[in-house]
Amino acid sequence: MNHAGLFISFEGIDGSGKSTQARLLADHLRSLGHDVVLTREPGGSPGAEEIRALVLQGDPDRWSARTEILLFTAARRDHLERTIQPALDAGKVVICDRFADSTRMYQGLSRGDLRAEVDKLHQLMIGVEPDLTVLIDMDPAQGLSRALARQTVEERFEDFGEGLQQAMRKGFLALADDFAERFVTIDGGRAIETVATDVQQAVSARLPC
Ligand code: ADP
Ligand code: TYD
Repeated sequence: MNHAGLFISFEGIDGSGKSTQARLLADHLRSLGHDVVLTREPGGSPGAEEIRALVLQGDPDRWSARTEILLFTAARRDHLERTIQPALDAGKVVICDRFADSTRMYQGLSRGDLRAEVDKLHQLMIGVEPDLTVLIDMDPAQGLSRALARQTVEERFEDFGEGLQQAMRKGFLALADDFAERFVTIDGGRAIETVATDVQQAVSARLPC
C-alpha cells in the first residue's frame, strides 16, 4: 500500500486483549511524538458505526452469512475512505482494532467455508492490507471468559461459544503463516504490561522516522 504513514491492525479471538493493547500502543506512540489515529472495526467512521450496530445487535439470524460479508465489507469501505486512507496520506500512524483478517476468519469460517468469497470481495472493494498485523494469540477458554465478563449488548460472536473460538484461533495462526511478511504473533496469556512491551518492540522497527 502506497502511503506516508503506517497502518497497524490488531487481530485475535474475542477477549484476547486487542482493544487494551491497541490503546496502550496508541498512548506509547503518542508519548514518542507520533500522530496516531486509534480506530476499530466494524466502525471507525460515522457510517460504519451505524453498520456496526446493525451487525452486532439484535437477532443475528436476520442476516445470511453472505449478506453479513457484504455488510462488514461496506463498513470497511466507508472506514477506509473516510478515516484510514486520509490519515495514512497525511503521514499518521493508524492503529485499527480488527480489519479484513477478521472477516476472513469470522465470515469466512463460522457458517461454512466462505473464505474464497470473502477474499474476492476484499480484492474488489478494499484491496488494502495493513503494513503490520499484530496477532494476540490466546487460549480460547480464557479469551471467552474475559469477553463474557464484559457484559455488553454486542455479543453476536461471543455467543458462538468455545468451539468456534478454537477454530478462530487455529485460523488466525494459519493466516499469520500465510501472510508472514506482515504478521507478528504475540502470546496474550501474560500480564498486560508484558504483552505491551512485546507489541512496542514489534512496532518500533517499522516506524517512520
Ligand atoms: P478484545 O478487544 O480482544 O476483545 P479486551 O482488550 O477488550 O479484548 O480485553 C478483554 C478483557 O480482558 C478486558 O476486561 C481487559 O481489561 C482484560 N484484559 C486484557 N488483557 C489482559 C491481560 N493480559 N490479562 C488479564 N486481563 C486482560
Ligand atoms: P470487537 O468489538 O473487536 O469484539 P471483541 O472486543 O469481543 O474482540 O468485534 C466485534 C465482533 O465483530 C467480534 O465478535 C468479531 C466480529 N467481526 C466479524 O465477524 N467480522 C469482521 O469483519 C469484524 C471486523 C468483526
